[in-house]
Amino acid sequence: MTTIATPDAAKADAAIRVRNVSHHFGEEGEARHVRALLDTSLDVERGELLCLIGPSGCGKSTLLNVMGGLFEPTTGTVTVGDKPVRGPMPHDIAFIFQENALFPWNTIFENIMLGMTFQGVPKSEREDRARRALEAVGLDEFADHYPSQLSGGMRQRAALARALSLETSILLMDEPFGALDEQTRMVLGEDLSVLLSRSKKTIVFVTHSLGEAVFLADRVAVFSARPGTIKEVIEIDEPHPRKPEFMTSAKFHTLRDRLYELLHDEIRKSMSQSAKPKRAYEDAVAKGEA
Ligand SMILES: Nc1ncnc2c1ncn2[C@@H]1O[C@H](COP(=O)(O)OP(=O)(O)OP(=O)(O)O)[C@@H](O)[C@H]1O
Ligand SMILES: [Mg+2]
Repeated sequence: MTTIATPDAAKADAAIRVRNVSHHFGEEGEARHVRALLDTSLDVERGELLCLIGPSGCGKSTLLNVMGGLFEPTTGTVTVGDKPVRGPMPHDIAFIFQENALFPWNTIFENIMLGMTFQGVPKSEREDRARRALEAVGLDEFADHYPSQLSGGMRQRAALARALSLETSILLMDEPFGALDEQTRMVLGEDLSVLLSRSKKTIVFVTHSLGEAVFLADRVAVFSARPGTIKEVIEIDEPHPRKPEFMTSAKFHTLRDRLYELLHDEIRKSMSQSAKPKRAYEDAVAKGEA
């Protein structure tokens, strides 16, 4: 059930290969220098949904941005198919973030059309693709609404439709449902699982929710505290589309408990890291040095 993310276990046809990636922000010696990622290697297999989970600040978003070419890693390499990643790859990779970043002054339909214009989709194809994407997420009746006229869940569906219309083989999703209430997240999770069973998309999905990770993922990569690296990869052997009953099954709870165990120590470590500067300050105050 459990596999470690070693490159040796790599499959020849991985969609994304991350090899020995480290990433620092700022220069060594500067106060703002942060070692965000440390010697991380991981393969994302074609057609799988891989969840990244780990303590806040451990480098999940950094890894996602490195995978998508938005950050150049300090050391190490990323390849998508057989292409080295050296910058954004809008024809292969689409992003969805927690804040959906829809243009408020454009309708949902216009937002989707704009995404395709930026990507260079021929004009003759855009309208068809936009309609298909809206249908896929169940928003076809809301094409002419503005983002402010939709609920938070519907706005995230619209962001998903915009990403789907780009017809990339890879979707990178950074806490896409993080700002939504639990019930809406559950329904969107079920929809995403249906989408995955119909499409051959490869999805990397960052979440803080253990339940969401188990419900959605084919594999869950668990991060250590910062500087983050992958501690373990758990396989969730359950076909898509996942049914709501899966969430109440003994198998689901066993997997969720395993994730909790793996994460618990890392979260403690990351909390003691963030408490250090405060303690040092308090000690200095006690000694009359601050
Ligand atoms: N643009 C940046 N400039 C400087 N430091 C950054 C930048 N982005 C991230 N960091 C730092 O790198 C570390 C990892 O950040 P990252 O955003 O990858 O964490 P995360 O795991 O996504 O956290 P969260 O779960 O809170 O979203 C953090 O300490 C953060 O402060
Ligand atoms: Mg993040």
